[in-house]
Amino acid sequence: MKITNPMSSIEIFENERATNYNQFVETWIPNYHYFLDRLPKLLSNTNTKELLVVGCGTGNEIERFVKASESWKITGVDPSPEMIKQAKDKLQNNDRITLMEGVVAALDEKKKYGAATLLLVLHFLEDNGDKLDLLKAIAERLAPGATFVMLDITGDKTQIQQNLKVLQQLLPDGLDPEQINNRLNRIENELFAVSEERLTELVQEAGFEKPLRFFQSSIYMGWLTKKK
Ligand SMILES: C[S@@+](CC[C@H](N)C(=O)[O-])C[C@H]1O[C@@H](n2cnc3c(N)ncnc32)[C@H](O)[C@@H]1O
Repeated sequence: MKITNPMSSIEIFENERATNYNQFVETWIPNYHYFLDRLPKLLSNTNTKELLVVGCGTGNEIERFVKASESWKITGVDPSPEMIKQAKDKLQNNDRITLMEGVVAALDEKKKYGAATLLLVLHFLEDNGDKLDLLKAIAERLAPGATFVMLDITGDKTQIQQNLKVLQQLLPDGLDPEQINNRLNRIENELFAVSEERLTELVQEAGFEKPLRFFQSSIYMGWLTKKK
């Protein structure tokens, strides 16, 4: 379900999409766990260990940071009530973690974080100002020099089509062929992936340095940049 409000466009995860989320990512995003597990290492040089996890969903990123080091203080924000509830059930008894249902634009702009992540969110937003608004809202809440990590479906039409074939080969055995087709169609025709060049433009326009593509698993690319 998509909601557009004056503050931002939101992709709500609810019902089975929320309850089956963790199993879904396991199936559909090869190497996702590798990416998650290495995130704390990637951000280990951060001076101010205050992390903003945008679109934290069920808390997958936050769990890794809590396990990795005692020094991180983490704020997770997500607009889907059923996703943030799962995160709360899993993580809320930890005084280093703050979890908020809502959008990043609602967070106090005076508070500046030392790093931020945005994993598997941007491709749900259209490139009609919505992607840029979200990136700007994140940039406005980061200290200069803060590291920002993204994971997103990225590529031009041909690249996405070619990488979807690779993704299909990497899927676990035994999945329902109709489900596979539906999902591949949805990725190609209903999500809003942009090319590497366009993503680079958006990130820079939002107030970050030129991003580096440091990771790729089929259609999913990992990007690293810093707040200017
Ligand atoms: C595919 S899940 C990713 C969750 C988590 N980052 C992970 O990697 O497991 C996408 C999440 O983005 C959230 N979301 C949707 N629209 C958003 C927006 N405009 N700003 C921030 N998060 C959003 C959804 O509620 C959902 O929990």
